Amino acid sequence: MHRPVMLQELLNELNVETRKVFIDGTAGHGGHARGILERSPGVRMLLVDQDDDALEIARVALQPWASQCVFVRSNFAELERVAHEHGFKDADAVLLDLGVSSGQLDQPERGFSFMSDGPLDMRMDRRAARTAADVVNTFDRSELVEIMRSLGEERAAGRVASAIVREREKEPIETTGRLADIVARAKGGRRSRIHPATQAFQAIRMTVNRELESLESGLDASLNVLKPGGVISIISFHSLEDRMAKHFLRDHEGRWESQPEGGRTWRGATPAVRRLNRRPLRAAEEEVADNPRARSAKLRMAERI
Ligand SMILES: C[S@@+](CC[C@H](N)C(=O)[O-])C[C@H]1O[C@@H](n2cnc3c(N)ncnc32)[C@H](O)[C@@H]1O
Repeated sequence: MHRPVMLQELLNELNVETRKVFIDGTAGHGGHARGILERSPGVRMLLVDQDDDALEIARVALQPWASQCVFVRSNFAELERVAHEHGFKDADAVLLDLGVSSGQLDQPERGFSFMSDGPLDMRMDRRAARTAADVVNTFDRSELVEIMRSLGEERAAGRVASAIVREREKEPIETTGRLADIVARAKGGRRSRIHPATQAFQAIRMTVNRELESLESGLDASLNVLKPGGVISIISFHSLEDRMAKHFLRDHEGRWESQPEGGRTWRGATPAVRRLNRRPLRAAEEEVADNPRARSAKLRMAERI
């Protein structure tokens, strides 16, 4: 089972007992949802996930609260339409807990992990047309370099992309094991605690699932379904997502900026949120010791005004 990250911080900051209408845009295994349903009797909850398997696991896990929950398979980029269709506009809270779940990572056949061999898939939504194998075998070298750099923050992007192009000419790259080997060899093996294929896999996964594009739309949609006083919470696991969440909230808060020539000008959109934390909240040490995934988690929250 996937263990919800920073659950206590989320429940406390949300003042969860006072909230009645929730939208969980990343249901996963229903861990956060369960915490909320347990603490806040009578709450209504919309649970969205683009992965059928995850949604089914959440449905089973939340069986005791079935009458309070609506489950919808969708990308959270579509949250506004989905919320309206199911009577969840004017929500008290929206949660986006980004990335993949441990369940997805742990299943070799989903192709997310370099730790076990499986088909090179990486689609969260298995109805999507493009798999990781398609990206790896059809992107030209410069496109591979670009995604490795921008989404993986991979310093050896050029070397990794060249190795992929060279190897796929011999035979298409179809498995996570082979890709992990190719990347590791291109980078000269393992030199740190982190597996050498970590960044390449992240870049390819984010490309396959269009993760930043979805997040951009999902953040907009979240603001549009919150009622005044409602809270958006975003849990992210790497710097690109956190940066996007930070800029989004900052731009929608707006601020006065002093000008060198004197006076002040307004920066940002018409104010739509008030940030509840300027710096992201981080998981407590005990949680990190218990669940290493929590180490990189950052929680940002803002209130709709
Ligand atoms: C980190 S897990 C969420 C875990 C969940 N909070 C829990 O406690 O069990 C992220 C989930 O979000 C889903 N997901 C990621 N991006 C999504 C998107 N753009 N739209 C819908 N679901 C998404 C994944 O399929 C995965 O199940």
